[in-house]
Amino acid sequence: MSVPPASFPRGWFLIEWSDQLAPGQARPLRYFGRDLVLFRTEQGHARLADAHCPHLGAHLGHGGEVKGEQLQCPFHKWRFDSAGGGCAAIPFTQRSPRVGLTMWHVHEHEGMILAWYHDQGAPPSWDFPDYPHLGQAEWLPWEGVEWRIKSHVYEITENDVDCAHMPAVHDFCEDVPATEAVVDGALMHVTMLTEVTLSTFGMKGHILAPAQTTKVGLGMLLVSQTIEQHGRTIDFRTIGTFTPIDEDHVHIRARHTVKRMDIPGLAWFVMRNYCKTFKATVEQDIPIWENKVYRQRPPLSEADGPILRFRAWAQQFYPGGEALIDEDQQAEAG
Ligand code: FES
Ligand SMILES: [Fe+2]
Repeated sequence: MSVPPASFPRGWFLIEWSDQLAPGQARPLRYFGRDLVLFRTEQGHARLADAHCPHLGAHLGHGGEVKGEQLQCPFHKWRFDSAGGGCAAIPFTQRSPRVGLTMWHVHEHEGMILAWYHDQGAPPSWDFPDYPHLGQAEWLPWEGVEWRIKSHVYEITENDVDCAHMPAVHDFCEDVPATEAVVDGALMHVTMLTEVTLSTFGMKGHILAPAQTTKVGLGMLLVSQTIEQHGRTIDFRTIGTFTPIDEDHVHIRARHTVKRMDIPGLAWFVMRNYCKTFKATVEQDIPIWENKVYRQRPPLSEADGPILRFRAWAQQFYPGGEALIDEDQQAEAG
């Protein structure tokens, strides 16, 4: 497939959900076309490093052991400091060579272990935004779903400003949604007003429902949607994440929750239907994402929505902000 200028955009990406990594665990991962080791120290710090030992190249995710705040290689038991990656100890010797693991910038926040990707290894240039804590007294436990597909994160994040595909591909709406996209640095706030078919949520009828999405770079969508129906407010939250596995594959993960309601079981009923609808919706998109090409200069129609505004915003995540669009289109995008 043809992709935008650089394979992987810069920014924050989900590496793992926090509850999937216990203290003392170390495991192999592959993202950004690189072999990685993810581990959690005994004090609870989540760490991510390039996988291969600087000594003789063993993979620290296959048999590496967490020892306090250090990670020990399975091959000759060299130990590495988890904060800076430096070699901290070598068995049977007093002196350690000045080598170390390449550590990634990791930020753990509200159940997400996030890593900063930059093709030149530069430190984070923007902070991951605060996500509100959704305590389980008020909200149902998160329900997750995931896919590994052949695509590029760019294609997936462009999808929800692509208004014309909504009624064409998806069952939940019958008309092109009114969509507004507001740029806020590395964030883009998208408000979408659409006629939602309530049968997809286990209810009857149609309703005009606003959905607020904040795009956090090209790796994540934070979605909040409120539906007023029969005197009740139904509140949904979704965290959708897209992490590049390699140049042609993306790991898509999502987590949903629904606010608890006065009738016991109603929130669970809505949640089950919402999860089913979300999964079906993404699976309607996947065959298109897996087989499409990237059009540098698409001939757009009025119905297409703020695709050019999105493309102008997205340039900041690529080296030198390489032109995803030409100057005319940029001017038009405003
Ligand atoms: S390869 Fe890691 S200690 Fe030798
Ligand atoms: Fe879609």
